[in-house]
Amino acid sequence: MESMNIYFAPMEGITGFVFRNAFHSVFGGVDKFYAPFVSPGPDIGIPKRQLRDISPENNRGIPLVPQILTARAYDFLKTAELLYSFGYREVNFNLGCPSGTVAAKGKGAGFLSDLDGLEAFFTEVFREVPGDLKISVKTRIGRYAPEEFTELLKLYNSFPVSELTVHPRILKEFYRGAVHRDVYAFAEEHAAMPLVYNGDLLDTQDIKDILRDFPATKAVMIGRGLLQDPFLAERWKAEEAGQADAAGQWTETERQADAGRRMERLAAFHGALVRGYLEAYPENRNVVLAKLKELWDYLGYSFPGTEKLRKKMKKSRTVEEYLAASEMLF
Ligand SMILES: Cc1cc2nc3c(=O)[nH]c(=O)nc-3n(C[C@H](O)[C@H](O)[C@H](O)COP(=O)(O)O)c2cc1C
Repeated sequence: MESMNIYFAPMEGITGFVFRNAFHSVFGGVDKFYAPFVSPGPDIGIPKRQLRDISPENNRGIPLVPQILTARAYDFLKTAELLYSFGYREVNFNLGCPSGTVAAKGKGAGFLSDLDGLEAFFTEVFREVPGDLKISVKTRIGRYAPEEFTELLKLYNSFPVSELTVHPRILKEFYRGAVHRDVYAFAEEHAAMPLVYNGDLLDTQDIKDILRDFPATKAVMIGRGLLQDPFLAERWKAEEAGQADAAGQWTETERQADAGRRMERLAAFHGALVRGYLEAYPENRNVVLAKLKELWDYLGYSFPGTEKLRKKMKKSRTVEEYLAASEMLF
């Protein structure tokens, strides 16, 4: 069986360079990290904060793919050229963002209802793409209805899109409710390029199910599942390599030792995040605090039975208060 790659989904506000560096230094199993989108404005280029996130010196050693959100081919190409000059050899095009303000400007999932505009966009982009830069696409299955996907896929198939990540929901479904597996099945049957599945994969069984039902899928992209359980990707890789049953044969001592190691690694991850955010936002401790708190909306899952303590962390008004509370977790 060919091995299934794991990609870390881009999550604006969460998986920025501080998070990526911390994660990458502690956990394994992720083959590529997708950066949250950069959104170039007409003539002004990429906002400074976004540029800092994808600059090579802030992402050393991390297999990173930057993502671009725009509806203007000119802005896409200018940004792609810059990223190419930084050394990137793949950029991802965002056709999935469901935000109302983004869609109102005809970007992200809001671009999906404009087939002519998309065709003109891709024609220009692929005509002028610099060097050997690969362009991959991350898409929802439609703006208003899942039926839109048939024509969308036809369009994607007519261009040299390097990889297509499909999040099988339409815009108004955001990230909730059942995914349209039938539409993903259609994608698997008809996509001309390697296909990546994204959406609601929370444990290794979910990944296994995708592989079983959609064996042509080349990779899975995971967001919330990896935020909840940072060990998910490496556990999948171990299972894939046939080490699945090791844990089942452990003695109680071995099990406890493993739990201890896991907690040590979670503590190392958290410590790297704290240091990284303090360094990245030296003037703004409120941002540091907000980012650390947000983490626990997901990571709390890995700390069952600590609800009270986490409530205290959520309520803390300063970084110091937060740190005092968090010390009791590890
Ligand atoms: C807070 C948040 C921010 C996100 N930011 C981006 C983004 O910048 N670019 C993008 O393509 N998708 C973005 N997404 C979507 C995720 O990449 C992913 O498609 C979604 O979370 C579903 O995958 P999951 O079920 O594995 O989490 C974001 C999602 C969330 C919840």
